[in-house]
Amino acid sequence: MNETTARNEKNMRELLFDQRGGVRMNERPKEALQEGHVAVDVHYFGINFADYQAYFGKYLNAPKGPFVPGYEFSGVVTESRVAGLEVGDEVWGVNSMGCYADHLHVPGEFCFKKPEKMTLAEAGAFPVNYATAYYILDYMGNLQRDHRLLVQSAAGGVGRAMMQMAQKRGAKVTALVGSEEKIATLKQDFPDAEVINYRQSATIDDALGDRTFDLIADPQGGPGSRKLYRRLHPFGKLITFGVSSSFSQGNGLTRAIDLLRSPFFPVLSLLSRNVMVGGMNLTKVFEHPAALQYAVSPLLDGFNNGDYSIEIYKEVPFSEEGIQEAYKAFETREVQGKMIVRVR
Ligand SMILES: NC(=O)c1ccc[n+]([C@@H]2O[C@H](COP(=O)([O-])OP(=O)(O)OC[C@H]3O[C@@H](n4cnc5c(N)ncnc54)[C@H](OP(=O)(O)O)[C@@H]3O)[C@@H](O)[C@H]2O)c1
Repeated sequence: MNETTARNEKNMRELLFDQRGGVRMNERPKEALQEGHVAVDVHYFGINFADYQAYFGKYLNAPKGPFVPGYEFSGVVTESRVAGLEVGDEVWGVNSMGCYADHLHVPGEFCFKKPEKMTLAEAGAFPVNYATAYYILDYMGNLQRDHRLLVQSAAGGVGRAMMQMAQKRGAKVTALVGSEEKIATLKQDFPDAEVINYRQSATIDDALGDRTFDLIADPQGGPGSRKLYRRLHPFGKLITFGVSSSFSQGNGLTRAIDLLRSPFFPVLSLLSRNVMVGGMNLTKVFEHPAALQYAVSPLLDGFNNGDYSIEIYKEVPFSEEGIQEAYKAFETREVQGKMIVRVR
């Protein structure tokens, strides 16, 4: 047995972030598998905006100090202590971080058999984006035919998932994007949607003019949420799921000020207007695994019926350079779809 084969069998590799813009490949021995867990040789894992924020130490849910990011994966089971999952099964799943690795131990309730129709690349790409879109539009947002929906950063990973779900529902969508290239792609893929380049206006508020909505999916957060709230129809919902507005703020202090300027919504105002304000944070689903089940069947049905199709924007290798290449695409805001890492 040569040295490489010996390393692959006993050791695993993972990408460690120092949260100061540094990433390092770390090799360590595999651990013994706990009861209720499966061991998976990872084939693909997805890249999310949250990982990019964590890369710079700007992600609220990241642990202190160096850590391995990554919420989603696909691969093949190599050992199982879970009924119903066997060695050799092709699977997909989610985990409370740690998926930037070539081998994973995950709780059985976070790991699922891959549908035949789906490739391993698609299986590693869809969980976070489509679960987020599902919880916001369907489970919380109760989006209906002819409802008016606002989707921001609509060309990105979560954005495209929302566009597909809204199209399937027959909702009337206003999509905001930050470039003419994104407008062209979205208009082609979603001809019924209204697509606006918000960067051609001084603010998102200016870009929206006098438009009002039944459901607003808000990934920007911060002070802008107050203006979005005013745009709700009676029985409308504003669901916030990110704080990308504060991400580009210069330093910790200006970011903190931006976050502190996030609005409070008085209950009496909600009551008098017949509106709802909510938040969605996928990481909290990991503390309440039953909630994951709300999304799994409807999403897999959607893929099996051909309602959803994952747009892979970029596939990068499992290396420090691969991650940096993907994050460059976040920095330049060019991303149209999902970015994934090919591990094997
Ligand atoms: N709460 C949750 O559980 C959850 C789960 C998944 C994602 N999210 C959030 O959903 C949003 C989209 O995530 P994603 O992974 O699908 O990313 P993405 O949309 O594929 O890519 C990021 C896009 O965000 C826009 N953007 C806005 N502010 C930005 C900034 N300061 N720097 C760079 N880009 C910025 C850009 O598009 P435009 O210029 O076209 O606007 C960019 O292309 C993020 O805010 C993320 O944190 C939340």
